[in-house]
Amino acid sequence: MKGLILSGGKGTRLRPITHTSAKQLIPVANKPILFYGIEAMRFAGILEIGIIVGQTRNEIVEAVGSGERWGVQITYIDQPEPLGLAHAVKTACAFLKGDPFVMYLGDNLLKCGISHFVEEFQKSGAHAQILLAKVPNPQDFGVAQLSGDQVVRLVEKPKHPPSDLALVGVYMFDSHIFKAVEKLKPSARGELEITDAIQWLIDQGFEVSSHQVTGWWKDTGKREDLLEANRLACDALETHIDGDVDSESSIYFKVVIEKGAVVRRSKIRGPAIIGKDTLIEDAFIGPFTAIADQCDIRECEIEDSILLDHTVINQIAQRISGSVIGRHVRISHSKERPAAISLLLGENCHIDL
Ligand code: TTP
Repeated sequence: MKGLILSGGKGTRLRPITHTSAKQLIPVANKPILFYGIEAMRFAGILEIGIIVGQTRNEIVEAVGSGERWGVQITYIDQPEPLGLAHAVKTACAFLKGDPFVMYLGDNLLKCGISHFVEEFQKSGAHAQILLAKVPNPQDFGVAQLSGDQVVRLVEKPKHPPSDLALVGVYMFDSHIFKAVEKLKPSARGELEITDAIQWLIDQGFEVSSHQVTGWWKDTGKREDLLEANRLACDALETHIDGDVDSESSIYFKVVIEKGAVVRRSKIRGPAIIGKDTLIEDAFIGPFTAIADQCDIRECEIEDSILLDHTVINQIAQRISGSVIGRHVRISHSKERPAAISLLLGENCHIDL
């Protein structure tokens, strides 16, 4: 079986971070989201993985490389425009060569991995298998209607959902999906929809089975979901301290301090992770916080947040919470008069004061 990870797209809902970086490389508990997908594939014994890339190709190639580090072989597949998930399958045709494959959305995280589902699919003889998760807001997802565990209908973001079972971003297909994607017409939003391709399989009498995911699953397309994925991934951390923590600091619960990090006169209440060569001084770092490499954090309090690398936060009186802060951001106290908020912001920034 082959793997196909979708790592193109626009990431509009995560702007401004995605103006300059791929959303699949945003770290969750200090590891790029995309790496969780690659690891899940490797764990399921999938060694040949194609990654669909778009505008952020170079960044993704630089971060992932040949796949050697995971013992897999990565092939990059260029999708000239993000014309939909089914379009991505069409684009990957030459790589997949009619083999059965697992398609994994590069911004999704699945606690239980995919090994069990891959095994089930291989045994089942079904033509496609989808994963489903119960959600409180099915109208925001692709939703499945079932008869037993067979799928009879799929609807994209329905006003009146036929069930509370949302489509998880992991799908398994045999070669019949290629016929399906050839038949598709763009949807109202101008994309070739994978739900339409699966519906075509159902309508032609092909077997589409389903599995319900029991552990957590997160689609990290929006800030709230990204923070929730970070909470879940931080919670799975186990304490290890490779950096330097002075005797005036205290560490509570599950905390990872990576190599070269320095913690002085600070309190860190996990689950939290502090990246390589980051300095934490006279600060409080609260639960569910992931601070990436080479940040400089002084005289401030941060909780429930993701900070990307090289960020500086200095002497901020109010606690920072529920935030995703990009690379090379600087937030500092100013002694200038008048005492005012002074900003230099790019497009699509969000500030809640
Ligand atoms: P989405 O989150 O549906 O789309 P997006 O990344 O463009 O985000 P937004 O809606 O905020 O603009 O995509 C799910 C995953 O699939 C994500 O990793 C991007 C990837 N993708 C492709 O690789 N090609 C595509 O044509 C599309 C639509 C998505």
